[in-house]
Amino acid sequence: MKNIIITGASRGIGYQTALQLAQQGHQVLALSRNEEALQQLKAEAGENLDFLAFDLSKPDANTLLAKVQRLGHVDVLVNNAGLLLVRPFEELTTTDWQHMMAVNLYGPAHLIQILRPFLEKSHGAHILNISSMGGFQGSSKFPGLLGYSTAKAALATLTECLAEEWRDKGIACNCLCLGAVKTEMLAQAFPGYEAPLSSEKMGSFIAYFATEGRHFYNGKVLPVSVSTP
Ligand SMILES: NC(=O)c1ccc[n+]([C@@H]2O[C@H](COP(=O)([O-])OP(=O)(O)OC[C@H]3O[C@@H](n4cnc5c(N)ncnc54)[C@H](OP(=O)(O)O)[C@@H]3O)[C@@H](O)[C@H]2O)c1
Repeated sequence: MKNIIITGASRGIGYQTALQLAQQGHQVLALSRNEEALQQLKAEAGENLDFLAFDLSKPDANTLLAKVQRLGHVDVLVNNAGLLLVRPFEELTTTDWQHMMAVNLYGPAHLIQILRPFLEKSHGAHILNISSMGGFQGSSKFPGLLGYSTAKAALATLTECLAEEWRDKGIACNCLCLGAVKTEMLAQAFPGYEAPLSSEKMGSFIAYFATEGRHFYNGKVLPVSVSTP
């Protein structure tokens, strides 16, 4: 059984992934800002799950380290949290850019840096970054999603570069670019659109990939999509 940290676990895909990993017997540390939702997740998941209110745009390394030290080592980090702002390019402010980059790129990057010593202690760690088809090169693009898609594309490139930099540390790093999944975020991006996948279904795929994907992939950016959008 693995020690797993997952961000964005308060709702949607992250909630389902965290729940299923805990139900499989892994030790899960679930992060997001919404403590009440994390308490509800804990009530459903039981003793295998611990949680921490954590804002990726203002990461508090000390509080996180106190929790992680109890785990001893980290086998899997799932950078699932994401922030979407729907705005035409000409209306994007510096604050909009900063906010989207903070949650979708700098937050995951900083978290990886904080957790590096604990990932190195694992016998085969896996960092799994959750991106979007919007950030997958050559995919269909949609107006209003430029800032979000750009930040997600950067997360995909970070994945490829980090896998190479850390190859000798035995830490694998992969990126899944998700297509449409029925969540609050999708409703914000594409109001009224009926997604072909539920967060439960995608959560079960991510839970599998997070624990087993490193045996088959490293430094890969993979589309996970059955629809457009
Ligand atoms: N749903 C889709 O169709 C779709 C498609 C492509 C990619 N994705 C990606 O899949 C991932 C999960 O998406 P979802 O649809 O489940 O999204 P969601 O329902 O909107 O959930 C987003 C999660 O990110 C967390 N988050 C946002 N800002 C944060 C911050 N500053 N600090 C910490 N956590 C923060 C939220 O937690 P709090 O608000 O509690 O902090 C929440 O748990 C995201 O990376 C998203 O970009 C989703």
